[in-house]
Amino acid sequence: MSDRLRLGVMGCASIAWRRMLPAAERTPGVDITAVAGRDPDRTERFAARFSADPMPDYAALLEHPDVEAVYIPLPNALHREWAHRAMRNGKHVLVEKPLTCCYRHSVELVAQARSSRRVLMENMTAPRHAQHKVVERLVADGEIGALRSFSAAYGIPPLPAEDIRYRPELGGGALLDLGIYAVRAAVRFAGPGLSVEGAVLRTDPETGVDTSGAALLRTPDGVDVHLAYGFEHAYTSGYTLWGSAGRITATRTAAPPPELRPELTVERKGETRTIAAPADDQDSATLAAFAAQVRGQESTAGHQAPTLRTARLLDAIRAAARPTAERPERRPR
Ligand SMILES: NC(=O)c1ccc[n+]([C@@H]2O[C@H](COP(=O)([O-])OP(=O)(O)OC[C@H]3O[C@@H](n4cnc5c(N)ncnc54)[C@H](OP(=O)(O)O)[C@@H]3O)[C@@H](O)[C@H]2O)c1
Repeated sequence: MSDRLRLGVMGCASIAWRRMLPAAERTPGVDITAVAGRDPDRTERFAARFSADPMPDYAALLEHPDVEAVYIPLPNALHREWAHRAMRNGKHVLVEKPLTCCYRHSVELVAQARSSRRVLMENMTAPRHAQHKVVERLVADGEIGALRSFSAAYGIPPLPAEDIRYRPELGGGALLDLGIYAVRAAVRFAGPGLSVEGAVLRTDPETGVDTSGAALLRTPDGVDVHLAYGFEHAYTSGYTLWGSAGRITATRTAAPPPELRPELTVERKGETRTIAAPADDQDSATLAAFAAQVRGQESTAGHQAPTLRTARLLDAIRAAARPTAERPERRPR
């Protein structure tokens, strides 16, 4: 049998169809072995598209003898149970972001992975893009001087009413869906030790999920961090590092197409210049890293730390949040 990672897919999710399974097809060392879903016809079509075995349900996928790892793109509230069951069945797990809906559950899963010697990875692909290393190098080279302020904003327009993100019982809401990107970027660029100083959260009275929010954080050494996110906004996905001598802004940081060279803007001494970062395939890179960890070719040490730091801050933002004022307009239905 080949040494390629034999992946089972749990649920015929949009993200799997549009991005992750096409990325798996172009990732050396990964095979899509089986796909499980709740609707047999849909699962059949989905599996046929990726030349995989259709499976009648998620539990059956975990019994598939050839599947050694599962990719879980289920609604957020189902991540914990199915990642747990998959590891209990001896499978390695790549689970969509957020790993679970709260810090405590994520810590439990990470502990299970460690004790059962399974690889457990949150499918947070954005941080793997090469553009962020370019930003780090610019900062290290002194382009902005000392970091004073970090801001990030992630927003999308309203989604169809039936979207899982509007279902509280499925772990919907903008904080877990989009706020997570802003927090994860802050964890990377403002460093560990972040604390939440205040937050607002808008909850849609019809659905009961949070549809937008903002948070103010700070670091122990005096950097302030401003985060905003929501699904009531024009598209945006970026961050700015503002230092004592300059500013760097990245604007295409959620899911830049693999062929795109994202532009970084550097403002310094009254001049603005644009740097084209390398194109990168962050989805394929994540799958390749997962496969390499399963095969023992890449260390798993420390890779959970940003996931857990982010989860802890997401909990803290929710706990600190005060409601925003009600808006006059309603989401279109
Ligand atoms: N990494 C990224 O960049 C990224 C981007 C987008 C989304 N995501 C994450 O991926 C996950 C899925 O998002 P998505 O937009 O792809 O959602 P989606 O299209 O609604 O897919 C979710 C899948 O879960 C299954 N499912 C099981 N129980 C369900 C229930 N009660 N209601 C609805 N679906 C149920 C369904 O598959 P079957 O019916 O076939 O079983 C469904 O296709 C989320 O965790 C999201 O945060 C990540």
